[in-house]
Amino acid sequence: MAKPILISGIQPTGRLHIGNYLGALKNFVELQNSGKYECYFFIADLHSLTENFSPQEKSKQILELAADYLATGLDPKKSVIFLQSQVAAHSELAWIFETLTSLGELKRMTQFKEKSEKEKERANAGLLTYPTLMAADILIYDAAFVPVGEDQLQHLELTRTLARKFNKRFGKTFVEPKPILTESPRIMSISDPKKKMAKSEPSGCLFLDDSPREIKAKISRAVTDSGLEIKLDPEKKAGISNLLRIYSSLIGHGIPMLEKKYHGKNYAEFKRDLAELVINHFADFRKDKKALMARPQTLVAVLKSGSNAATKIAEKKIHEVKKKIGIAF
Ligand code: AMP
Ligand code: TRP
Repeated sequence: MAKPILISGIQPTGRLHIGNYLGALKNFVELQNSGKYECYFFIADLHSLTENFSPQEKSKQILELAADYLATGLDPKKSVIFLQSQVAAHSELAWIFETLTSLGELKRMTQFKEKSEKEKERANAGLLTYPTLMAADILIYDAAFVPVGEDQLQHLELTRTLARKFNKRFGKTFVEPKPILTESPRIMSISDPKKKMAKSEPSGCLFLDDSPREIKAKISRAVTDSGLEIKLDPEKKAGISNLLRIYSSLIGHGIPMLEKKYHGKNYAEFKRDLAELVINHFADFRKDKKALMARPQTLVAVLKSGSNAATKIAEKKIHEVKKKIGIAF
């Protein structure tokens, strides 16, 4: 029997942080390696154009994300790894979805509200229509599963709504996809544990390619409460709880085991161990990423070959869609 299809993407907007890794990328690799899915992983470059950028910087960010994918274990022999903008059908389907989505639905999206609030009058229209392109990315491959962090659930709900709406109006065409979350779908900032760790606030991020020295310094500075106990209490001990989550996700053991291990120990000891764990966990990653970045042509070739494979599938689907709505023959 055919395997269910799974897809996800990340925007090339800068270095990946441990929230991206524990909320998404680590899971991409595990899902790929489970052998249970037909996997598509892409670089959402079109989405990333909604934020300020320079062309040189954008090219570098794309290659860097490709290197991040490969260095964490995504494998072009097992998954289709591609660049969103090279598969034109995503944009074509996005336009069709825009015509089926009300302004109200788009204006209600939390991400739009947050980002447009920052930009005010300068906010671009792409920020508003962002979720219709995301729906196109997913629905064009008939994906059944989408591994993402918690912040993307609202967009995924809209994707499901669009699939239902289209199917009802034009006949069964799309699959309604389900999200796959990790145990840490929302990692918080290490400098302000009430806020989500986000690339837009680098001081609160642990980046995957931070040097051992940076990791040590950042974790030792991580904001915690003035108490003594190392235990999970997201309300009263947001900082320690966040560090416990990071620790437990990296070692693959539950938090109770860590609470026991650190019973009677102080924050400094706990932070020292966590820093060592993070440093060791990403040692191979740092080495492999560097080697990959030294061979940009290999990265470009991987994206090209994946994009060709994705285009074949996506073109079939967009043709089917156009026929359903009466604009193709
Ligand atoms: P982005 O960089 O916005 O394209 O996000 C890439 C992936 O990382 C998405 O699946 C996000 O949901 C996930 N992600 C981003 N920030 C966090 C975070 N702080 N905690 C957990 N997952 C996150
Ligand atoms: N919006 C996602 C993010 O910011 C990135 C993304 C774009 C995506 N298209 C997608 C994720 C399709 C999953 C599936 O993280």
